Amino acid sequence: MRICVLTGAGISAESGIRTFRATDGLWEDHRIEDVATPEGFRRDPVLVHRFYNMRRADAARAQPNAAHRALARLARRHKVTLITQNVDDLHERGGSTDVIHMHGSLLGALCAACGHRFPATLVMRSLDRCPACGKQSTRPDIVWFGEIPYHMERIWAAVEDAEMFAAIGTSGQVYPAAGLAQHASRAGAATIELNLAHSAISRDFAQHRIGPATSVVPEWVDELCR
Ligand code: APR
Repeated sequence: MRICVLTGAGISAESGIRTFRATDGLWEDHRIEDVATPEGFRRDPVLVHRFYNMRRADAARAQPNAAHRALARLARRHKVTLITQNVDDLHERGGSTDVIHMHGSLLGALCAACGHRFPATLVMRSLDRCPACGKQSTRPDIVWFGEIPYHMERIWAAVEDAEMFAAIGTSGQVYPAAGLAQHASRAGAATIELNLAHSAISRDFAQHRIGPATSVVPEWVDELCR
């Protein structure tokens, strides 16, 4: 079966990585306009690098959990397109390959001056020079608010081709990710949401599995791999 899976911060929560909009979420103690917009980066690149250095260190310390590993198992049995809003590499370390990071990755760096992409160091600094143009304008290769998510053509094609669309651990607050389920449903896909609670897009799904990802995702994958 052709399955399109969209994941959000909730799939990495049980690996100890903070989500954004929970009561202890990242957006409770950081302002989006300061650390997740191009304007914020221009205003204070030191603050932005400090925010992503903290997240990069958290991700490096975290381990993939049973939900990440279950999705890798699913892809050995079905044709899975895995799209993630997450910028950690837990899907890859959990065994998934060809992960579509629509919001970029903490492992990537980008030069704001010449556009050169290169591997991020664990700690990035605003005075680092771009390896290509030498300017002190390197930034995390993360898609910020107001910027265009990556790989959207490939994502729309996979959503339209899917026989099943599943969303795991996303609050459905950020578009275009939040609109993918409705698009898949209109294209004829079966839809299922796996989440700890109902989300802003729960109405777009025909089926729901409520519970922690490390329980509901392996159960769901077991059913599909029987
Ligand atoms: N198991 C399953 N779901 C969980 C778990 C868990 N253990 N813990 C939390 N969740 C769910 C929450 O119920 C919520 O629906 O994960 C979701 C987390 O929502 P957000 O914090 O809003 O994260 P996400 O949906 O990934 O945010 C989308 O917003 O700020 C931007 O770029 C950022 O990619 C991010 C985007």
